[in-house]
Amino acid sequence: TGDGGRVGGLGGFPAVRPRRLRTTAALRRMVAEHRPHPADLILPAFVREGVSEPAPVSSMPGVVQHTRESLRRAAAEAAEAGVAGLMLFGVPAEKDAVGSRGTDPDGILQQALRDVRSEVGDELVVMSDLCLDEYTDHGHCGVLDAHGRVDNDATLERYAEMARVQAEAGAHMLGPSGMMDGQIGHVRAALDAAGHQEVSLFAYTVKYSSAFYGPFREAVGSSLTGDRKTYQQDPANGREARRELALDLAEGADMVMVKPGTPYLDVLRDIAQRSEVPVGVYQISGEYAMVEAAAEKGWIDRDAAILETLTGFKRAGADLILTYWAMDAARLLRERG
Ligand code: PBG
Repeated sequence: TGDGGRVGGLGGFPAVRPRRLRTTAALRRMVAEHRPHPADLILPAFVREGVSEPAPVSSMPGVVQHTRESLRRAAAEAAEAGVAGLMLFGVPAEKDAVGSRGTDPDGILQQALRDVRSEVGDELVVMSDLCLDEYTDHGHCGVLDAHGRVDNDATLERYAEMARVQAEAGAHMLGPSGMMDGQIGHVRAALDAAGHQEVSLFAYTVKYSSAFYGPFREAVGSSLTGDRKTYQQDPANGREARRELALDLAEGADMVMVKPGTPYLDVLRDIAQRSEVPVGVYQISGEYAMVEAAAEKGWIDRDAAILETLTGFKRAGADLILTYWAMDAARLLRERG
């Protein structure tokens, strides 16, 4: 056979049989290269101003907009489950052109940060979304100029203020997600000038303009009409992700993120191989909704599908995974060993 008899065995049957190591569950477990761990998982959570009961998000079965009290309980449960942290999003009762509630020290996200820190202390990494889209009446991630375009540098000034109030309220780590140029450097400088050198930045470095954000927009009551294509990346471009990575690292990102997950595994792998800092991936609302919807119809094994997606992210090189399934996954991982 020309292979020294290693591949071709007796009578043309294979001598080399990869199936051997797949024989039993114990063997498969032993040779598994990648496995997600609860400590890799970050739970994104929504907290809504002025509600007395958690409000279900219909496009994301199992996900709610929390009250301050239910968020506190969820944070305590997350700490109990051994997940890495929380990424908090605020849903304000009122929106305006500049997103004032996002920089109000008594805005819902700031209140929630104080609540959660008092509940879990340093047991979890408490992160907050640093973006204006939840707070603006036009729904864009920044403020607009006289022509209705998203004004990059005026937005940076809003982010700087937002960063200060979130840090003041107790966030360990901020997640600038607006895709403005220079946002990491500008926010870093603002934090340092305000004496918040210890607050770290989890940069949404590679964030594509995705159709899969749809359910999230219900979750935060977004008023966006149109799209975010002038600031989020074009799904057609992979190389551009490297440029965003170089900039965010140079500007001082402590960790970087790729978002969404599943349609961008190639980009995730590329970034994971090049990054000098920990790499996260955000499994977004639409990815969650697709699996939940198929499972509800009985078309897919939900739990197996969840674990398969998380394993895929680890295989592609993610250190951390933001996922709405963090709590379910932590339980499944414990049960399945
Ligand atoms: C913007 C932001 C978005 C998400 C997280 N931060 C939405 C967007 O860019 O439209 C999406 C998360 C998800 O879909 O789960 N602040």
